[in-house]
Amino acid sequence: MTSGAKNVKVGIDSLSFFVPGAYLELEALAERHGVNPDKFEVGLGQKKIALTGFDEDVVTLAAEAALPILDAEGVEGIDTLLFATETGIDQSKAAGVYVHRLLNLSPNCRTVELKQACYSATAALQMACGYVSRNPEKKVLVVASDVSRYDLDSAAEATQGCGAVAMLVSVSPKLLTLDPVAGCFTEDIMDFWRPNYRKTPLVDGKYSTLRYLNALEQCWKDYQKNGGRAYGEFVQFCYHLPFSRMGEKGHRHLAKLANGEPNLDRCKASLVYNREVGNCYAASLYMGLASALENTEIDLTGKPIGLYSYGSGAVAEFFAAEVQPGYGDHLLKKRHKALLDDRKAVSYDTYLSLRAVPDPQDGSSVEMPRLARGRYRLAKIDKHKRHYVNASS
Ligand code: CAA
Repeated sequence: MTSGAKNVKVGIDSLSFFVPGAYLELEALAERHGVNPDKFEVGLGQKKIALTGFDEDVVTLAAEAALPILDAEGVEGIDTLLFATETGIDQSKAAGVYVHRLLNLSPNCRTVELKQACYSATAALQMACGYVSRNPEKKVLVVASDVSRYDLDSAAEATQGCGAVAMLVSVSPKLLTLDPVAGCFTEDIMDFWRPNYRKTPLVDGKYSTLRYLNALEQCWKDYQKNGGRAYGEFVQFCYHLPFSRMGEKGHRHLAKLANGEPNLDRCKASLVYNREVGNCYAASLYMGLASALENTEIDLTGKPIGLYSYGSGAVAEFFAAEVQPGYGDHLLKKRHKALLDDRKAVSYDTYLSLRAVPDPQDGSSVEMPRLARGRYRLAKIDKHKRHYVNASS
């Protein structure tokens, strides 16, 4: 399948993610909440909450995620950086501008931030595909990066996480081509939102799970109406994963709608990394995609994968990607597994202290202690300015 007007194949050439080195075991949170640990492990399907240090944020996570791609592919041809996040650090300046400097991208690169809760990376990906179809000599770096934090002791707290995914979008991509057909849905609802003055979102949890399923239904109908593939063609499905059980619920719902076999094997591989990391909002679907490609035992060459993106508020999209020959040679599976395995569990008290991120709203200067495991750090905030450094230079 090709990308439309110019009949060129476009899609994801490289896919890399990054997570910080600390996490909270959900068992520790279950003890604090006074609930059976199975509620989180079985009921939500989650094991760990990935945690940032004070010197890590969406900018440092994003730069770390993109670095292996640029090390392998170079920066040549990249003339656009699209940064998707719910966890904005500035009301005006795009977080991607910091990432652009840290990664030494060309000064003749356009950089912008996109927001629509957990959906924005999908908009970025579609825009990137449209752009490179028109400019086949160019590449677009799409980065999704988020830190999910809910109120202490709330029901949503167990679904927290963080992480970043970087994708290089080009013609003749090495991993996946994106089909031009998609199914979309927008509705103005209040299921999860974060007014400018709040650090944590407001969330109507149960309602949000119902709207997620309804949006999936609307997207699928639109996808079919637009000439999309049949349910039975897909060998794998990846869903937005606020927690891994939500992906399973989504899959059963879609199977029922499509009169298809509700075989959870077709979404199981996509859930592996999410359980270990937690919700990373805009990055979540794409960490699930990495998980599906890296943990599916069968050869996926030439096979289509169905993707469902959902961002509260709400915007959603169902689309498809086709796995390219030789994709296995270009996955960063070893690096990703090492990133997940080589982490340290922290106590509940340390988790609490890590939530108290310095926030000098009076303009005073705060140096951040060195906690980041990567090379990029938020070194200090001074006179309302964030100072990012490459600690390896
Ligand atoms: N053993 C096994 N399972 C258990 C259990 C036990 N001991 N105790 C409870 N459970 C099960 C429950 O039966 C339930 O399963 P089902 O959904 O299959 O019925 C599950 O654990 C969750 O328990 P509760 O129903 O009691 O729900 P909760 O009060 O813990 O809240 C939640 C769950 C509403 C999802 C909450 O975590 C939340 O608000 N999360 C944030 C919002 C969210 O993630 N929404 C998802 C859709 S919106 C979206 O996708 C955007 C986004 O990223 C935020």
